[in-house]
Amino acid sequence: MMKGKSKKVKSKGETGCEWSLTIYGFRLLPFAFSLLSFLSGCGGAQSVLNPAGPQAGRISRLWWFMFYVCAVVFVLVSISILVAAFRSRRRSHDEFDATHIIPEPRSEQRMTRVVTGAIAVTTIILSVFLVASFRTGRATYTLQDPAALTVKVTGHQWWWEVRYEDQTPSNIFKTANEIHIPVGRSVELKLTSTDVIHSFWAPNLDGKKDLLPGHENIIWLKADHEGEFYGQCAEFCGHQHAHMRFVVVAESPDKFNAWLEAQRKPAFQPADAAQGRGQQVFLSSPCVMCHTIRGTDAGGSVAPDLTHLASRKTIAAGTLPLTRGHLAGWITNSQEIKPGNRMPPVPLPPEDLQALLSYLESLK
Ligand code: CUA
Repeated sequence: MMKGKSKKVKSKGETGCEWSLTIYGFRLLPFAFSLLSFLSGCGGAQSVLNPAGPQAGRISRLWWFMFYVCAVVFVLVSISILVAAFRSRRRSHDEFDATHIIPEPRSEQRMTRVVTGAIAVTTIILSVFLVASFRTGRATYTLQDPAALTVKVTGHQWWWEVRYEDQTPSNIFKTANEIHIPVGRSVELKLTSTDVIHSFWAPNLDGKKDLLPGHENIIWLKADHEGEFYGQCAEFCGHQHAHMRFVVVAESPDKFNAWLEAQRKPAFQPADAAQGRGQQVFLSSPCVMCHTIRGTDAGGSVAPDLTHLASRKTIAAGTLPLTRGHLAGWITNSQEIKPGNRMPPVPLPPEDLQALLSYLESLK
């Protein structure tokens, strides 16, 4: 019986080198490489380990605290396994000896102390983790700032509707997939959904929060420096879940106020004949059924507001950079680009398409 067990430990012949990389059939080298590649994925621009606000800072500190404690535990457990494996290997060369099965009372006492100690340390570590994560959760839950900017974010399959609230109704406006916030000011995001459950996650700024149909969740953000912070829907919500991105643009209060003023205005009127024709194409095509362009008769509400489309960086919820070519491809057949999305193909004669593109590009 003992012989059988020891074979498992040796696993590959008697050569020390092979043995040292394999314990109980568990290969250490591939594991070490996959651990390294896994950890390298934790950094980068869109990462909680690159915090740009107080909440992400707290989450990041919690992550590093847990990482260091777990790393120490991992090293200690690995050393214990190696020591146990070496001892077991030495014994396997001995003759069968009943004392290996029935331990001496003194060694049994020692093992009981070791196991009890390990259980106590594990319990203490897990309790500390519990308290630390509870404290982080409480600290990130709310910023309690009466002067906060309020923005309503509604999840749709598969894009984000962003509505800037204001005491004055005429100042309220909608945009899509792009949330501008002023640096240093608390922002209260009211989250809801029109269809299925989505999840708002801008890792550089805060943790995740679900968007539930018929219910409003709140998440707070605060950026401590300027930058563009990408986010992603973090709850599987259907075919194009992976193409449900957004960007949070944190900018100085002056730049933010200028952006706010520009967004509140109705759309620019066509400045030349091509743009005028493009506007007519828009208003006489199916586009008008779903999209709004403030200042025109287009008032659809099931698709992104296009009043200031050309001021945005991407189309299709972060799927493509906003360029004339991408816009043309998207209008002609968006199903090729993002299959299953709610926009049907809009076949247009080439002259009409070019005019429409000129008009849409003028909507700064
Ligand atoms: Cu929306 Cu996943």
